[in-house]
Order: sequence, then structure tokens, then C-alpha cells
Amino acid sequence: PHEAEVRALLGRMTVDEKLGQLQQLAWTGATGPGGGQTAAAEKAARRGRLGSVLNVYGARTTNALQRMAVRESRLGIPLIFGLDVIHGMWTTFPIPLGQAAAFDPAVAERDAEVSAREARSNGVHWAFSPMMDVTHEPRWGRIAEGGGEDPYLTAALAAAKTRGYQGEDLRSRDRLAACAKHLVAYGGVEGGRDYNTVDVSEARLRNLYLPPFRAALDAGVATVMASFNTVSGVPAHGYRHALTEILKEEWAFGGFVVSDYNGVQEMTVHGYAADRSDAARLAFDAGIDMEMASTTLNEYGKRLLRSGRITTDRLDDAVARILRLKFRLGLFDHPYADEDTVIAGPTKASRAAAREAAGRTMVLLKNEKSTLPLGRSGSIAVVGPFADSTDLRGSWAGTWADAFRPVTVLEAVKDAAPKARISHVRGVDASGRNTRGIARAASAARATDVTVVVAGEAATLSGEASVRGDITLPGEQERLITAIADTGAPFVVVLLSGRPLTMEGWLDRTPAVLQAWHPGLEGGNAIADVLFGAVNPGGKLPVTFPRAVGQIPVYYNHENTGRPYDPHNHYTSGYLDLADGPQFPFGHGLSYTTFDIGEPRLGVSRVRAEALRKGDTVEVAVPVRNTGRRKGDEVVQLYIRDPVASIVQPVRRLSGFRRVTLRAGEATTVRFRLGAEELGFWTQDRQGRFLLEKGEIQVFAGNSSLAKRERVLTIT
Ligand code: IFM
Repeated sequence: PHEAEVRALLGRMTVDEKLGQLQQLAWTGATGPGGGQTAAAEKAARRGRLGSVLNVYGARTTNALQRMAVRESRLGIPLIFGLDVIHGMWTTFPIPLGQAAAFDPAVAERDAEVSAREARSNGVHWAFSPMMDVTHEPRWGRIAEGGGEDPYLTAALAAAKTRGYQGEDLRSRDRLAACAKHLVAYGGVEGGRDYNTVDVSEARLRNLYLPPFRAALDAGVATVMASFNTVSGVPAHGYRHALTEILKEEWAFGGFVVSDYNGVQEMTVHGYAADRSDAARLAFDAGIDMEMASTTLNEYGKRLLRSGRITTDRLDDAVARILRLKFRLGLFDHPYADEDTVIAGPTKASRAAAREAAGRTMVLLKNEKSTLPLGRSGSIAVVGPFADSTDLRGSWAGTWADAFRPVTVLEAVKDAAPKARISHVRGVDASGRNTRGIARAASAARATDVTVVVAGEAATLSGEASVRGDITLPGEQERLITAIADTGAPFVVVLLSGRPLTMEGWLDRTPAVLQAWHPGLEGGNAIADVLFGAVNPGGKLPVTFPRAVGQIPVYYNHENTGRPYDPHNHYTSGYLDLADGPQFPFGHGLSYTTFDIGEPRLGVSRVRAEALRKGDTVEVAVPVRNTGRRKGDEVVQLYIRDPVASIVQPVRRLSGFRRVTLRAGEATTVRFRLGAEELGFWTQDRQGRFLLEKGEIQVFAGNSSLAKRERVLTIT
């Protein structure tokens, strides 16, 4: 719709002004190496040599900066302000990995809507979210930011979050442009070490890493960010195959691609670009349209144009992509945030939304002898380093939200059970080192009816560059738990973490474990809601929990070896010194009630490949019944397996899920549709070849990736 305006503007722009649009500078250095570029940004804005600023927010601050661009530069082109609004601006929602555990895209969508309203009113136009890097690596700190190990689930969340940020019309003053990141295969970093190497086949690229990006595009995502890793020998910032051949040509993406922080210039460090000028050329040719933080395109663009190493057509293409978004956001008509209607903090409604969301993300890993839910009377000891901690918001909560203090678990428990006698002992400190309180915590456990141990990882242990080699509970927290277990008194462990933790040292001795992730601003209340049964937990694991770090990578959708593990046969695939299989499988999660999921029923048992290719789908109906005594949520999960294929297929592939709420005794039938997209797969062909092969497909239904109820669909 804005093509004529974009063309007209392009026609008036000098080369310097065009190159300026490609530049994004960092107001502060909060999210990358080096300091802020504040003075440079102001100068460039005034001269019309700047397209965007990141790490800036606040109506007054952004308006002042915007005025420099709009009023003082020759053409008055507005700036676009970007920020890492990942799971909330003021109102911090649970971390994205937790949101994935809800198995309910509406949770992610709601987070994005609330975030968009708060951020846009504070001058931000663009969220660097959703992150959709599928990963098999719990050591990688950025696992906290994405949807876990499954492409189907991650794709559903990516689409939901994109819709939530962008809505119908980006001009609305409560919407943000979204950014699908990071293209591509960042989740595959070797050893989970951030920014590391990735070597990936075309089939894996397309079947595992790309589906969420495709889903975000289908949902209309405005921008895409490149990733820091190499992809089969080429830094992603120079990986034309993904950024241009697939994204812009095959998928006809009309938005723009932003680099990651210094990602263009870092191609010299990778050993791919000879120097910064070469890095600029390689990134631009590959498909990067806007450069974050480093300034190579601005420094060398003119020379590269003069020598013919980049073209004016490509320059105009990149600038047009950026201008189009500025028009879509309505920035030419309304460049400023309204300083009178700023949302200055969380509201009652946003807090309620965050609390409800957090409740839906909780995963009950274990609950022997119905230890949970707790009664609201008697005596309760609340112990552990996170019992009275406000460190509940997780990575990327943003320093901007520091003013809003989360309610602690201890406070929330006191609030939820005013008649109970509640004692508190920290036991060990957050890093787990100070162990002087362990004995006191054990005495408190002995003296009370039940003990709640709030354990886990500080927020700083996950997120970008926060990688752990060991994913047990940090410090001496395990000692605290085993000391409580030694008392023989009933207790539960609430785990706060940005990743799966290994629990071998204490799980067997612990009656109940609630995985609460980093649950956000209202996390304390949400935990208490679940502990006392006001909320019946219904979350499921979006990622496999390993028994031990030595098993990594361990993920449900793996391929079979020719010798799958067999305890009776030495020459099979396993570890001599580790039990087989994960601690908890993908999709696992208990409830305070019980459910029975019946056999999947297929609408037809045979379907023609040709019909599927034309868009036909097969209905799969799965009956589910609440067989317990309470209302609760179950996530009905559908998996498929293609047992014989021209490329070995995963032993299970999630192909449908639905979270339902059922009263005690209530039953329903959940209906899924399987089409070509679910049943076929991408080949190794670089041109992109999607195959739907004839033969049998096993269809499984259940409440985890171990689902056993099976039917066979034949594709003819
Ligand atoms: O958006 C982030 C990205 O995910 C990682 N590096 C820094 C960027 C901007 O802060």
C-alpha cells in the first residue's frame, strides 16, 4: 500500500541517506559488547544518516531523539526504536520456555499483546521477539528464550506471539513490529556454547529449524534477525542460502532482515570476511538489510558501490524494505509517543494476565502420595534460597522492569494460607554456598506438617552467553534437599530455572516436584495458586529433561540407530554408566486429577497422496476423559511416525496438541487434522523439495511423547 510513497522517497534520497537507513545504533551497550552509541546516534539522526536505535525506551527520551530525525534531518524520515521486549515490558510474563510448557499458544499471544501495549506507549515500535530457535541443548542459556526442542510447538508459539505483537494494524498505538529470530540454526550450537559452530544438513535445516520461521512469516512477521553462529562453514550473517534464497526468494518475505549486535563485523573474527569492508559486502549480498551496532555498511558502502561490489538495486531494495515498515507503523504520520497516555507500570489487569499465564506454565513433574496440593491450615515451612527471593523474572526481563518487585513465594504462601503457621529458613544462599542454615531448615521441616523447598537457578544463569557445563542445582542446594529428605517429613520442591535441570542426586527421595521455570512478576502468587490447588497444574515439558549432562543431546524426536538401546545386548546404542532414556520425557506433566486418553480414531484409514497434496486432510479424533475427582487440564498430544522413508524420520513427531479443561468425570473428543504439512518432510535438496511418500504412518495419541495408543494411516 505504501509503494508509491516509498519510491518517491527513495527518489529523493542521497546515497549517504540511503546507507543511513541501514544503520541501527545502540543507545546503551546493555545487550552487546562495547558501550552505548548515544552521541553518535544523536549526530547521525540529525544528519539523516540513521535508520533505527535499539536499547532506548521512554516516551520523552524517544521523542527527543525522534525530533532530531524528523525536524532536523533533510528528509525528516522517522527512526524506528527497537528493544528486547522478550517476555514483557513492565509486566514480566513467564520466560518463553515456560510459556511453551503451557502448550497453549494463547498464553504467548496474551504476553505479546500486553508487552506491545506497554512498550508502544513508551516509544518502542519494534520487539526483538519472538525467538524461535529450536534446540536440543539444555546447557545453552538461550534455551530459556525459545519454545524448546520441538519445531511444531515452537512454530505455533512463534505465530501466536507474532499475532499478539502485531495485531491487525501496526499503526495502532498498542502494537509492535515483531522480529523472528535468529536465522538460522542457532539452537544447534556445538556443546551448547553460545555463538558456536553449527554444521547442519539441508533436511535438518528445513525440518527442524525453519518451520517456526515459516509460521512467523505466515503470521505476517515484519522483520527477521540473523544469528551469531556459523551454518555449515558460513557465518549466518553471510549465509545467503537462508537470508535470501529461502527467506526472500522462496518465501517471498517482504520485510527486512536486521543483523545481530556486531554480527556483521564479527564475520572477520570468524575467519570468513577479510576485513570490515569485506564483511559489509558479504552481509549485504547475503541479505542483511539493517546493521545493528557495528557500522561497516555505513563506513564502506559508498566505496563498495563505486567499485561495483554492491549494487544500487540492492541498496534500494534494502532501504525500501525498511521504509515500508516505517510506513506500516504509521511513523510518518505519528512519529512520537503520546507523553500524556504513557503506561508507566503494570496494571491490575496485566498482573492478572501474568498470574494466569504463569499458572498455566507450571509442570507437575512428580507427585507421590498426593503430596500436592497442600492444605491451607496447619504448619508449613518455606525454605530454600528462592523462598524469599524476588529473582523470579528470568533472563531478558530488562533492567527497565526492575522498579516492579515480584511477590516472593514466601509472601504469596502467607497470603494464600493466612491461617497456617508459616516458618521460613533460607538454608543456603542463592549461589548455594552458604550452608550454615541447612541444619536449621531441617529442624523447621521436622517441626512442621509440610515443607516447601524453593530451589533453582538465578536468572543470570540462563539467557544470552549464560551457558552452564553442569546443569544440576547450583551450589549446595542438593545438600539442602537431601537434608530435608533425611528428616522423613513430607516436602515438595519448587524448581525455578531457565532450562531443564538434572536431578539424579535428589529426585528419588523427593515426593513432589513442581517445575515453575522463571515465572515472572506474578510468579510467587502463581506458585502459591498451584501449591494450594486454586490452580490445577496442566503444563507439559516442551523439552526433554536429561538424567545426566553426559546424555546431552537427548530429545524425543530423534532418529533410530540401527541398534536401538537394548539392556540385554551389549552392541546397542547407549551409555555404559547411565540409565537409558531421559529423566522426564518431552510432553510429560501431571495433574491433581487423572485422565484417560483413548485410541485415536481416523476419519479414513487410507488416503491418496495426491489428495493430500491438493490440501485434503485426515481427521483424527481422540477421546479424553477426566477420571479423577477434580477439574483439571490435560494436553492431548498427537504424534506421528513414518517408519520407512527415503530419509530416516524421527521416532516421534508432534503433529497436534490441544489443552482442554474438563470437570471431574467429564469427557470430550479432541479433533486434529493431518495434512501434507504434518505427514511429509523436506529432503536434502537445496532448492527445497517436500516429499509425501506412500506407505504407512503410525499415529499415536497420549499425554506425553511416550504416547502408546496407535492407529495406522496408509498413504496410497
Ligand atoms: O535481540 C538481541 C539478540 O537476540 C542477541 N544479541 C543482542 C540483540 C539486541 O539486544
